[in-house]
Amino acid sequence: MDATVMARPVTTERLVLRLFTADDLDDMHAYQGLPEVARFLYRPPRDRGRCAEVIERIGKGTSWKEDGDNLTLAVCRRDVPGVIGEVQVTLSSAYARQAEIGWVFHPDHGGRGYATEAALALRDLAFQQLGVHRLFARIDADNTASERLCERLSMRREAHLIENDRDDRGWGSEYVYAVLAREVGSAGTE
Ligand SMILES: CC(C)(COP(=O)(O)OP(=O)(O)OC[C@H]1O[C@@H](n2cnc3c(N)ncnc32)[C@H](O)[C@@H]1OP(=O)(O)O)[C@@H](O)C(=O)NCCC(=O)NCCS
Repeated sequence: MDATVMARPVTTERLVLRLFTADDLDDMHAYQGLPEVARFLYRPPRDRGRCAEVIERIGKGTSWKEDGDNLTLAVCRRDVPGVIGEVQVTLSSAYARQAEIGWVFHPDHGGRGYATEAALALRDLAFQQLGVHRLFARIDADNTASERLCERLSMRREAHLIENDRDDRGWGSEYVYAVLAREVGSAGTE
């Protein structure tokens, strides 16, 4: 799949998922700049300059060929303008068709199922169009909202890594969640 195919928007019941453009800078900064949003992202909140750099990179899409290739999609509500968050998938092993999924949303749009709806669409895109065999997520063990989201994606908890990381708050633990394409009836080319 090439960047041109990636540029085609994905439409769900309430959302549109598409590549970021430079016009999305304010919307991205509105959530990526919040300390409470960055809490579980293992990095500081992003200032406007950093958001602009990130949009420049992810706005091009991806060829989805090599380890580390990443597809990040802006999530927009169909009923109001603007970007409310993003979902992303990263190729961790091209040979073994393993990919990591992630999500970041503005808290103003939380609690209505938008993140779940977007992540489900990206999960299905990863399995059906990107040829992913196993999709996994690594989440902070205190990130209970993401834990529930993983379960809504039919992911199983495969590992609990105890104090495998450290930040200025102390030791951190992680869960690894995963699901196979065939487990959700989404197998592409096996
Ligand atoms: C993780 C994150 C995306 C979860 O947000 P969220 O609002 O809980 O997720 P959703 O948008 O899918 O909403 C789900 C909630 O809406 C509720 N809901 C209300 N209306 C709904 C509807 N029509 N459809 C589905 N769910 C609905 C669900 O019951 C659920 O609530 P619950 O978890 O208390 O049971 C958000 O907290 C976030 O962006 N956090 C910061 C970034 C982050 O930590 N990313 C992960 C790093 S690994």
